[in-house]
Amino acid sequence: MKTAICYFSGTGNSLFVAERLAEHIPDSKIFNIAQLVRDNSPLNEYEKIGIVFPVYFYGLPNIIKRFVSAFSFEGIKYIFAVATYSGVSGDAINSLKNEVAKTGQLLSYASKITMPDSYTITFSVQSEQMIELKNRSARIKCEKIAKDVKESKRKIPAFSPLAVTKHFSGTDKEKDRKFILTAACNGCGKCARLCPVGNISMKNERPQFHHNCEFCLACFHRCPKKAINYGAKTIRKERYVNPEVQFPSEEIEL
Ligand SMILES: Cc1cc2nc3c(=O)[nH]c(=O)nc-3n(C[C@H](O)[C@H](O)[C@H](O)COP(=O)(O)O)c2cc1C
Ligand code: SF4
Ligand code: SF4
Repeated sequence: MKTAICYFSGTGNSLFVAERLAEHIPDSKIFNIAQLVRDNSPLNEYEKIGIVFPVYFYGLPNIIKRFVSAFSFEGIKYIFAVATYSGVSGDAINSLKNEVAKTGQLLSYASKITMPDSYTITFSVQSEQMIELKNRSARIKCEKIAKDVKESKRKIPAFSPLAVTKHFSGTDKEKDRKFILTAACNGCGKCARLCPVGNISMKNERPQFHHNCEFCLACFHRCPKKAINYGAKTIRKERYVNPEVQFPSEEIEL
């Protein structure tokens, strides 16, 4: 069966997982959810679809909700999902299950993989050893998930999110109001090119944020000058990108 593995990723962890799954699932192809949403592309020729996404505040990124609600599941026989998260996945899988159910479809299979933390606004970037260890464990888990998917296994783990995680799940699209820019910005425009939802434009060589933010932190982590900060508290902090992936769009950057 042809399998579409659709990912959303700010710092590469979910892309890493999507790539590993594709290595083990025959006749599979990777799609970027941001692009699918932008182009409103159907995936008519696929019979299985996977959704690989990061957990944000114990829940789903808003773009995943938009993707599921607008997606035409015609011809799809099997829907699976993999959540990547750093410590507490909360209500994310349940939420996705509910979003899929609203479309009249069934989420057949779900799993979650712990990955390096990208929420380094509050926390710190994990050590190189920890990042390597998590990637190594993720490779093994991806192989197992791929085997389940090939066998069309039906399994949704019984997650019981704490009431608090359910209550606080979700992100606010105006969170970008707190981004500040330091003098280190050289106007290269990379942040505008990599923002998955086109929330950044350049004006007089300065990025402008348009308050339709997924809070994926791609701009924060991937600005080569570390010029984008979330208030002053992040100025001295390290940035994170999964060291084992290369974002497709970056291949064409100077
Ligand atoms: C805005 C935001 C909120 C996050 N919230 C959570 C969370 O509630 N629980 C968790 O375990 N990890 C959380 N994380 C960490 C990410 O889920 C994790 O690092 C994920 O693998 C990042 O995937 P990506 O590299 O594909 O963007 C959060 C990250 C961001 C950017
Ligand atoms: S990527 Fe960084 S340096 Fe380049 S324009 Fe954006 S903020 Fe400035
Ligand atoms: S503005 Fe930055 S944090 Fe917001 S969606 Fe774009 S890249 Fe992600």
